[in-house]
Amino acid sequence: MLRTVLGLAAQCREGYAAGRAVHELPDASSLSSVAVCGMGGSGVAGDFLRALYRDRLAVPLDVVKGPELPEFCGRDSLVVCSSYSGGTAETLACFEAASERGCRIVSVTSGGALRERSGERGVPVVQLPGGAPGPRAALGYLLFGALGAVESMGLVPAVSADLEETGRVLDDLAGELDPAKRGNPAKDLAAWIGERVAVVWGADGIGSVAASRWKTELNENAKIPAFASSLPELDHNEVVGWSEGAGKGFVVVALRHDGEHPEVAKRFPVSILIAEESGAETREIRARGQSSLARVLSLVMLGGATSVYLGMLRGFDPTPIEAIDRLKAVLEGPDE
Ligand code: PA5
Repeated sequence: MLRTVLGLAAQCREGYAAGRAVHELPDASSLSSVAVCGMGGSGVAGDFLRALYRDRLAVPLDVVKGPELPEFCGRDSLVVCSSYSGGTAETLACFEAASERGCRIVSVTSGGALRERSGERGVPVVQLPGGAPGPRAALGYLLFGALGAVESMGLVPAVSADLEETGRVLDDLAGELDPAKRGNPAKDLAAWIGERVAVVWGADGIGSVAASRWKTELNENAKIPAFASSLPELDHNEVVGWSEGAGKGFVVVALRHDGEHPEVAKRFPVSILIAEESGAETREIRARGQSSLARVLSLVMLGGATSVYLGMLRGFDPTPIEAIDRLKAVLEGPDE
């Protein structure tokens, strides 16, 4: 898992090549909406796409994390079905609905029923490499696979310069997070979190999706409950919960980047102070790079490595996800 987390740059490049290699993509003319359907580690690619491109897309992009395709999806909609395994029930249900309604579909997967059904119906497939230790560890493939395809369709601006910068930033960071490296910031963060409950904050947009990713990586790799929220929204509710003494046993990790809206950026110091006064310990982490892609993925890599080191510190193998496997087995089992 650690090797995969630190190999994110190579994965992004491979995913992008897979996306760009797809021919006969749907026509993007008169498109009225985009829906990215996917669950868990595969759905997160949709969250990242929306956060990265919502200010540059001519049509709305919705992320669907359930079995029901929104009513607005029809012939003028692009539906991206994202499932690393290709066997996720909710994503397959959306694929079927999109197929019935005549939506323009692109599948992003390494195989399974999604690839099979796409082949049968002539739906273009971004064919991702298999072998990642779980869908959450395939974010580079999933995000850049989808990105390569939608770039080819002319929906997003050229990606290659940002990808190049992202690769450089991630390769440098991976060197610092290597297990043998002294002063490793991810090991330091993992030791600091320890047995406490982590609450991760980020600014609406890429900060917020990075915070959610930290939460899910802490859940799945470190095997701990963790929570994420977004500024400015948390200043309108959560901040009241940081009342006297309530923060004991919590840590707040604030993910920051240079592209935050100035009105949101100025909320961080006072929000952090309120959490500290309630007994929580806090740390600020700064994203690296100039492009939004480099910034968000540098936060992702640091969070991923922190979660893996914390899992190991707590005596867990970060890779298995027994609770998810158990739920899937129960739900896929014979009806009583
Ligand atoms: O982290 C995980 O393994 C899960 O969140 C999966 O991503 C989720 O269950 C969906 O599976 P898939 O990504 O294969 O569609």
